[in-house]
Amino acid sequence: VYLGIDVGTSGTKTLAVHEDGRVLASATEEYPLYSPRPGWSEQVPEDWWQATIRSVRRVLKEGRIKAGDVSGIGLSGQMHGSVFLDKKHEVIRPALLWNDQRTAAECAEIEERAGGRKSLIGMVANPALTGFTAPKILWLRNHERKNFDRTVQVLLPKDYIRFRLTGEFATEVSDASGTLLLDVAKRNWSKKLLGKLDLDKSLLPEVYESEEVSGRLAEASAELLGLATGVPVVGGGGDQAAGAVGNGIVRKGVISATMGTSGVVFAHSDEVETDPEGRVHTFCHAVRGKWHVMGVVLSAGGSLQWYRNQLGQLETAAAAPMGADPYTLLTAQAAEAPPGSEGLFFLPYLTGERTPHADPNARGAWVGLSLRHGRPHMVRSVMEGATFAMRDCLEIIKGMDIPVREIRLSGGGARSEFWRQLQADIYGQKVVTINASEGPAYGVALLAAAGTGAYKDVVEACSATINVVTTTTANAKAKKTYNAAHTIYQQLYGSLKGDF
Ligand code: XUL
Repeated sequence: VYLGIDVGTSGTKTLAVHEDGRVLASATEEYPLYSPRPGWSEQVPEDWWQATIRSVRRVLKEGRIKAGDVSGIGLSGQMHGSVFLDKKHEVIRPALLWNDQRTAAECAEIEERAGGRKSLIGMVANPALTGFTAPKILWLRNHERKNFDRTVQVLLPKDYIRFRLTGEFATEVSDASGTLLLDVAKRNWSKKLLGKLDLDKSLLPEVYESEEVSGRLAEASAELLGLATGVPVVGGGGDQAAGAVGNGIVRKGVISATMGTSGVVFAHSDEVETDPEGRVHTFCHAVRGKWHVMGVVLSAGGSLQWYRNQLGQLETAAAAPMGADPYTLLTAQAAEAPPGSEGLFFLPYLTGERTPHADPNARGAWVGLSLRHGRPHMVRSVMEGATFAMRDCLEIIKGMDIPVREIRLSGGGARSEFWRQLQADIYGQKVVTINASEGPAYGVALLAAAGTGAYKDVVEACSATINVVTTTTANAKAKKTYNAAHTIYQQLYGSLKGDF
């Protein structure tokens, strides 16, 4: 049995997975997120640790798993967050999270110190974004100098949990890529950028490959968790790379399109491929010696969620007495409008946008409303707009010469036949879904199985446990309509940009 622990933004999820891929038990324990000022987003690392203890204990109990049955642990987590530790290895202040927006000035500082954006991308494969870790460290130095001076170690969220489990300061390549301090091509810290930022390398932990054993469960933590001392803990992965492993995105040509609140298009690549404009992230993959490229749409499923909350009250009220999901009624309504929503367009930039615009000030819009349009067109156009944004990511990836032979869907957008067809038609190719969609915790359980010898490597672990269960092919007529509509959709941002 392998444990996958995912330190997420809303809670920690622990999964117990059998070597053959079966999920034996799952438990999630939640914690709060604090926003002490507008744009700030913080959590208390001790909350992650307490949630880890509770979720592991629940999984062992609910799955009736004995301490001696657990042969390995994999860690995943929200990326980019910063935990600052002092010389006693105590947490100095709450961690700054991936969605914290306070570091715009530090991003500019990094680009400047690096000798410009192009030179920065040359060193670490990515431009500086407010959510990344390096600007957070500079923020501490610029705004809380005393705290910075006390800091001896900076850890990512899941790596803080690793420290509590094993006593080791360690990370792995996929999550380390999101710090902006990793030489993504060389898979180790960029001494060059650290020098330019005047940061000491000793602040950062040792870097492992994702399936390598990074340490063993210490006696005190084993007792707290109800596990045996000495269980190996593998590197694991940032939540996106780990989720991709859980979807079997471990070879060239297979990519995933995941629609949760945000939308992520994730492609495996055998080489380091960067977009010169920095519109997609280029990070190390959790597969040894491989990389990945990903585009992030901030409000994909989130746009439909917004529609349901603000304009879908009728459908929500109608669904309640039947005990039905309001999204089932909303998608049935969307199906009453034709592909292209008769010229109605929705821009899904409700919370700004990362890919392709990297514009925090972008905003949502309906364009083209006429008397012909009713609720079916409105809801359909929201789903189409979110999917057009995903297609934008896909096109950048294709433009980087990364082959896209199979698109695996997951998240809310994979659940209904209507959404799957809409995605096949807009992407213009076949889409599939797979058997086990348990997300990042599943991916790191597979990494633990591979890293402790149950499989040759994680690629073999994925082929043994993951298979395709549904296939949806694009409808030729709808594909043509959407090709034309997507061109118009792409022009709208440019026309409206100055007015947001
Ligand atoms: C990835 C990203 C999010 C966080 C939180 O770049 O910002 O996926 O890891 O889930």
